[in-house]
Amino acid sequence: MLLVAENGSGEVVGCVHAGPAEHIMETAMQNAPDAEIRAALAGFMFLTKLHGIAVRPDYRGRGVARALLQRVVEAYTRSGRDLLYGQYTATEDLGDFYRKQGFQVPGPGVGG
Ligand SMILES: CC(C)(COP(=O)(O)OP(=O)(O)OC[C@H]1O[C@@H](n2cnc3c(N)ncnc32)[C@H](O)[C@@H]1OP(=O)(O)O)[C@@H](O)C(=O)NCCC(=O)NCCS
Repeated sequence: MLLVAENGSGEVVGCVHAGPAEHIMETAMQNAPDAEIRAALAGFMFLTKLHGIAVRPDYRGRGVARALLQRVVEAYTRSGRDLLYGQYTATEDLGDFYRKQGFQVPGPGVGG
């Protein structure tokens, strides 16, 4: 899923990219015992990864990212996916942003 936000002139001012967690499938297929393949299939079917989200600097702080994330959550909840997750580098300090959108944000180095 790739969603964009446009301003009144039709310019793209924000975007979000979310979808299946392909790397889980790829990693398990490379290792290949049956149990890992089953785990990978389950992960592929029921997990959604937030691959990226960005808003044009002059449109930040107006709720654009919140609106984009709400659309992603609505769509994947309807489709029966269990978990939406993502990651960011600890230096970016986006914990409060994601907490405000309802995500649990574990500390650096801590599994979710
Ligand atoms: C992070 C980013 C997507 C936020 O977009 P945005 O449209 O400005 O966010 P919103 O206006 O929807 O903010 C929603 C809430 O989060 C807060 N917030 C936004 N950016 C924040 C930040 N960097 N840190 C803490 N809180 C933040 C807002 O104050 C707002 O709070 P409120 O609900 O109390 O008013 C934007 O700053 C961006 O594109 N950054 C560069 C790319 C990036 O870091 N992407 C994420 C990579 S994982």
